[in-house]
Amino acid sequence: MSSNEAKGYNKKSVTDIDVNGKKVLLRCDFNVPIDKETGKIRDEGRVIAALPTINYLLEHNAAIIACSHFGRPKGEYKPEFSLAIVAECLSKHLNKPVKMAKDVIGEDAIRLASELKPGEIMLLENTRFHKEEEANDPAFAKKLADMADVFVSDAFGSVHRAHASTEGVSHYLPAVSGFLLKKELDYIGGAISDPKRPLVAILGGAKVSDKLAVISNLLKIADAIIIGGGMAYTFFKAEGGKIGNSLCEDNELESVLKCKEEAKTRGVKLLLPVDSIAGSEFSNDVEPLTVDSNSIPDGMMAMDIGPKAISEFAAEIKNAATIVWNGPMGVFEFSKFAEGTRAIAEAVANSNAISIIGGGDSAAAVRKFGVADKITHISTGGGASLEFMEGKVLPGIACLLDA
Ligand code: 3PG
Repeated sequence: MSSNEAKGYNKKSVTDIDVNGKKVLLRCDFNVPIDKETGKIRDEGRVIAALPTINYLLEHNAAIIACSHFGRPKGEYKPEFSLAIVAECLSKHLNKPVKMAKDVIGEDAIRLASELKPGEIMLLENTRFHKEEEANDPAFAKKLADMADVFVSDAFGSVHRAHASTEGVSHYLPAVSGFLLKKELDYIGGAISDPKRPLVAILGGAKVSDKLAVISNLLKIADAIIIGGGMAYTFFKAEGGKIGNSLCEDNELESVLKCKEEAKTRGVKLLLPVDSIAGSEFSNDVEPLTVDSNSIPDGMMAMDIGPKAISEFAAEIKNAATIVWNGPMGVFEFSKFAEGTRAIAEAVANSNAISIIGGGDSAAAVRKFGVADKITHISTGGGASLEFMEGKVLPGIACLLDA
């Protein structure tokens, strides 16, 4: 038995079932970022990531009823949250029409779904136009399910949500994963259940409270944990360091000390940035100053890791056989404070390890620094990949048929 089987990640996928002539309800994560100025899709990554499953289903003579949430319209129709913009984008990539329904479970959706032929694809409106979606209402889930014969989930970014279209429909239809979801299960599931060692976890980002659960789980699994970003300074303060105006969550001082203790007990290396790049205010228009992380001058705030920290972290990364990275090392949107995140992105990209980037900011960083193609797996999930790494049972995975 592989560890993924033991952990319950070994799920049936779209290749394990017969889709020929079937209507497939395909849950995607089309929650794409929109450019506020142009109103256009800023990054089509999530649409592109859905294409392998869509193409497979179309080539295997299935009719696809795709669905997704988009933003947080809070249970009512709001035109700015219409998925029509995604239907257009999808159609461009597939080079074929994508029929856009005017509603989710209403007359238009039901009619289009019933008329849909094998090899055709349609998209339902934003599932979050109904409050029943987030409430995981069984009657709403059944109406969605009634349009199809099979449920394929490819929405990794949403598997941490127990919603009608991510979990509820599985009570009425045979449910399997698509290729995108399977890949996430194989890589992230593999890294946290049966990693090639040494496993080095890199955690960053602003708030330590967001990462305590993942640190706690990784302390049981990883050989080394590297901590950078704003969250590092709660550790320094907890140990009596002077951190100036750097980010700190005073109510987590005890929790981070416990993490340090546990790391010691378990023999896990916990690396903090010995030096930092600080500025006098949260801006790129300040003079950057290299300082020791535990004696940051009054009035200064750390916004990046320093050169000594970079070389210590890079040496640990070089030694890794598996790397998981979630969260940037500093304010990499500011050019003067981007070096730490850039250097770590390059170290990860140039390592021989299996490298897995949790979605969100660290995924944006490896793209920005031009090393995305040297990363083994960049997750499409932000919150979902974090909760997966926390070791939680995710409802959108648990509901799929076991392989
Ligand atoms: C995401 O963008 O992380 C997913 O689409 C989930 O969105 P949500 O946090 O609004 O559920």
